[in-house]
Amino acid sequence: MASINRLFRSHLAHIKVYEPVDPVSELARKYGIDPENVLKLNGNENPFGPHPAVKAAIAEGELHLYPDPNQVKVRQALAEYTGAPFECVLAGAGGDELIDLLLRLFVEPGERLLDCEPTFGMYAFCARIANAEIVSVPRTADFEVDIEAVTREDNEHTKLLFLASPNNPTGNELSEADLLKLLALNMIIVVDETYYEFSGNTLAHLVPEHENLVILRSMSKWAGLAGVRVGYMIGSSTIVQHLMEIKQPYNVTAPAEAALLASLEHRGDLMENVNMIREQRGKLEEFLDGVESVKYFPSTANFILCEFSEGANEMYERLASKGVFVRKFSHPVLSHHLRLTVGRPEETTRLIEALAASV
Ligand SMILES: Cc1ncc(COP(=O)(O)O)c(C=O)c1O
Repeated sequence: MASINRLFRSHLAHIKVYEPVDPVSELARKYGIDPENVLKLNGNENPFGPHPAVKAAIAEGELHLYPDPNQVKVRQALAEYTGAPFECVLAGAGGDELIDLLLRLFVEPGERLLDCEPTFGMYAFCARIANAEIVSVPRTADFEVDIEAVTREDNEHTKLLFLASPNNPTGNELSEADLLKLLALNMIIVVDETYYEFSGNTLAHLVPEHENLVILRSMSKWAGLAGVRVGYMIGSSTIVQHLMEIKQPYNVTAPAEAALLASLEHRGDLMENVNMIREQRGKLEEFLDGVESVKYFPSTANFILCEFSEGANEMYERLASKGVFVRKFSHPVLSHHLRLTVGRPEETTRLIEALAASV
């Protein structure tokens, strides 16, 4: 057999990979520090973790059986939580899987999808995997969506537009007025509300009137389930029906189902954690207000994007040398920026101390 290289699909042979965040063990190894001393603020994870009822629910699950391919209990619980009809909700292995599924449903190889950079890298990554063309419409200087520029990209080859609200990493939201303008375009508009519980604002009420609107949500952040992989979407029953037909039948695992149900049952307790994180965000902003060499972008999510006048790399290294790991970016627009995940009170104190000693 000659080299297997010729067998790879040509567009996947040398793909630009997604840049995931390093786990604690890798951060500790790279910087030669004790994993116990790593403060991981690079993944917008929720340090309060899952509700205690989640572990008990997973332990009671029947792990030897395949989970329900129709996700009946999950969709009923989500319908109750969101107020959307049962046939308009669908769960997946995190928002990430749903992004991939939407591409599979709507975008032929060579067709186009839009995002508005800087934004979440998964949209472009899934586009590359699908051999689709990603057209990134730059945001304005204050990171708002440039509605006119997006409108100019509307053509028969363009199927999807992804907009995160609040946007990762900039923390700002899409307004209802702007979304209404975009919904007039001939494409599916996906509003990614992964950080919804932190912002308290949603555009999901527009779904019944707009068949081309899809709302994405996640259990990773507010419910502390990033390691479980479970998220969901709200959209027209037609889209949901088609996604049900093409998804992997058992895409929501039994532990994920148990975790989602227990989390929604105890949502009041989880929202107390969310509120504590929001308080910490305020504390961090208050500190940043007093630092002249740092500009921050007001955020309604569980992270804050900061711009450092001297550049991001030096600041990243200084924080890392103190065991504090935040998110840096390869995007040229973000060469001076770091994204700080907001955590528990004691983590905010340590982050503020590390920043104060580094600026
Ligand atoms: C905007 C945005 N969408 C989706 C996701 C993926 O979420 P999930 O963990 O549900 O796959 C993230 C994760 O960071 C995100 O920031």
